[in-house]
Amino acid sequence: MPESTTTTGSTAARAAAGGTRGAATTAGTQAAAAGRPAAGTAGTPAAATADTRAATGAAYRSALEVIAAAEPDVADAITGELASQRRQLKLIASENYASPAVLLAMGNWLSDKYAEGTPGHRLYAGCEMVDRVETLAAGHAIALFGADHAYVQPHSGIDANLVAYWAILANRVERPALAAVGAKHVNDLEPAAWERLRRELHAQRMMGMALDAGGHLTHGFRPNISGKLFDQASYGTDPASGLLDYGVIAAQAREFRPLVLVAGYSAYPRNPNFATLAEIADEVGATFMVDMAHFAGLVAGKVLTGDLDPVPHADVVTSTTHKSLRGPRGGLVLCTSEYAPDVDRGCPMVLGGPLPHVMAAKAVALAEARQSSFSGYASRIVDNARALADGLLRRDVRLVTGGTDNHIVLMNVGASYGLTGRQAEQALLDAGLVTNRNAVPADPQGAWYTSGVRLGTPALTTLGFSPDELDEVADVIVAALRATAPANATAKAKYQLEPRTAEACRRRCADLLARHRLYPEIEL
Ligand SMILES: Cc1ncc(COP(=O)(O)O)c(C=O)c1O
Repeated sequence: MPESTTTTGSTAARAAAGGTRGAATTAGTQAAAAGRPAAGTAGTPAAATADTRAATGAAYRSALEVIAAAEPDVADAITGELASQRRQLKLIASENYASPAVLLAMGNWLSDKYAEGTPGHRLYAGCEMVDRVETLAAGHAIALFGADHAYVQPHSGIDANLVAYWAILANRVERPALAAVGAKHVNDLEPAAWERLRRELHAQRMMGMALDAGGHLTHGFRPNISGKLFDQASYGTDPASGLLDYGVIAAQAREFRPLVLVAGYSAYPRNPNFATLAEIADEVGATFMVDMAHFAGLVAGKVLTGDLDPVPHADVVTSTTHKSLRGPRGGLVLCTSEYAPDVDRGCPMVLGGPLPHVMAAKAVALAEARQSSFSGYASRIVDNARALADGLLRRDVRLVTGGTDNHIVLMNVGASYGLTGRQAEQALLDAGLVTNRNAVPADPQGAWYTSGVRLGTPALTTLGFSPDELDEVADVIVAALRATAPANATAKAKYQLEPRTAEACRRRCADLLARHRLYPEIEL
């Protein structure tokens, strides 16, 4: 996002800023403004010393002892989850393994504090330490992504998007309506003016990527509040190539004239051009919002730069912190200075009280992502995804768009094996690989059974898998799916997987995992 604080959000302003990383003008920017690496930066798993490794093991053994004394079943479930994650090859594109420092930052008394408001402006007394962690996390986010402003309170990606939508509506609809009648606050409006504003807030349009093209439910689809709030039109991908067609999107935007143009995806294996999409948004007077929940780690690691980095081009950028960014479960919003005051009203506008312990963990994760080793991690994610895609293509698997440029590989298991995504997902689980089914464009099996399986490499890359090993993973996937058939002619969920092949696949997965133990410092 640009340094510019003009109110147009125009391409001209963005271009004038030349993608310059924003001047850190808001609270929480001290570390960023100083341009120094974060103080107290926690080690990544790779950077951990022998001492911290021993401390990590001891910390978890002690923590489980304390939990077990209060509710042994919970301690047992926590232990069981580690065993299960160690048993399975994790190829879920939206999951990762956070460092012990990130995980431990969440398990403490910061959780006990109420802190509605923003640093220095709270509705509760005694928030000095919460101010400190929120300020640290925001400062790291600003420095890492080069944004004007960061808001780190959202509890998840969905919450971050809701904060963004209401900030855009406040900026574009509510503020002008208040100004028109000389009011400062919605409470100052007469009943008739308030009713007019309420209707206007609900009469706005948004354009987002179609669900079966890889978009997300929160980009204006009816089952989500965004679809009930906005009149939505979705843009798809080219039926032949599976790629975004910017000419078609521009024509649709000129016709539909949305207030908000949303970009970002959950299952698109290529990199959108955000400079081009920003131009389209500007031409039709739309606010440009990018949801980088999936690929924030690739932006943080400078794999996606220039036109592929959303931050210099968008007015508002939302993200999760737990996917490729490898932080705690949560969300954040980055924005230009123009949108900052409205974004900062996220709580209590649409968010419950902030989770200070999670903001502390976000600060740790963002500090980790500022280390130079993180860019190596991010580029290995993409190398591994390419190796996985190439391995599958060489073994005749049909992939949506014919390959990948990011961390996602989307297999069309209907076209490749005559299976539904549901059957393939379950067969792969039997074979020792955790994946998730996903619709492909114009999916004949719909959104529940689907014809696709989505794969992603952030988690295996964290474990240290190499491209050669991803090729072997491709071989295991193909062995399992070739040995799988629908249970009968009409079955969409039931399947048969040849038992000896399943057993052989599980052994191969176990061998791969034995080379890359998850949390090796933790022995319970
Ligand atoms: C693009 C995108 N946005 C938002 C979300 C929602 O994130 P969360 O589950 O943290 O609410 C997801 C989750 O998969 C996503 O892929």
